[in-house]
Amino acid sequence: MKVDRVLITAEDIDAKLAEMGAAITADYDGKDLLMVGVLKGAFMVMADLARHVHLPVEFDFMAVSSYGASTKTSGVVRILKDLDEQIAGRHVLIVEDIIDSGLTLNYLMRNLRVRAPASLELAALLVKDGVDRPPLEVRYEGFHIPPGFVVGYGLDYGEKLRNLPYIGVMDEG
Ligand code: IMP
Ligand code: MG
Repeated sequence: MKVDRVLITAEDIDAKLAEMGAAITADYDGKDLLMVGVLKGAFMVMADLARHVHLPVEFDFMAVSSYGASTKTSGVVRILKDLDEQIAGRHVLIVEDIIDSGLTLNYLMRNLRVRAPASLELAALLVKDGVDRPPLEVRYEGFHIPPGFVVGYGLDYGEKLRNLPYIGVMDEG
């Protein structure tokens, strides 16, 4: 297991998060914003994106699992940790690291919509191209990346490599 090459540098990630944060700041001005991070992968995006959001925002986290220790989706989504807070009437922005099959987000959006938030939007740092997925409207998206397994900046391979400050491509050979 090793990282083959850098796909997105730490500098490019931060520049993109600054753009996304500025858009979020403008869009949610005067609204009661709750940013919901999807653990574990989104912990780094959440921390860095939040620093570019200049609003009295609150935070909550959910932990879900859709993958085992492998690099292929199982199609099964389990809620490992639910939200601490109720979201009825609140403006909820889900923050994700990556959208691959879209199964996790598709499930999460449906699950949260039932709780009657005032609005429910999605921010994702990465969207994988070349994947058949259910329609998902990503209001704030960072980078489109080619198919293939990536690691770093919150994304793991067998729970390792989340702490890389950049997004790297795995050598799956
Ligand atoms: P999805 O349900 O297939 O869209 O992906 C759900 C989760 O799988 C993401 O939130 C990531 O945690 C993980 N994942 C998807 N693609 C990758 C990847 O290329 N590297 C590491 N984790 C990934
Ligand atoms: Mg994972």
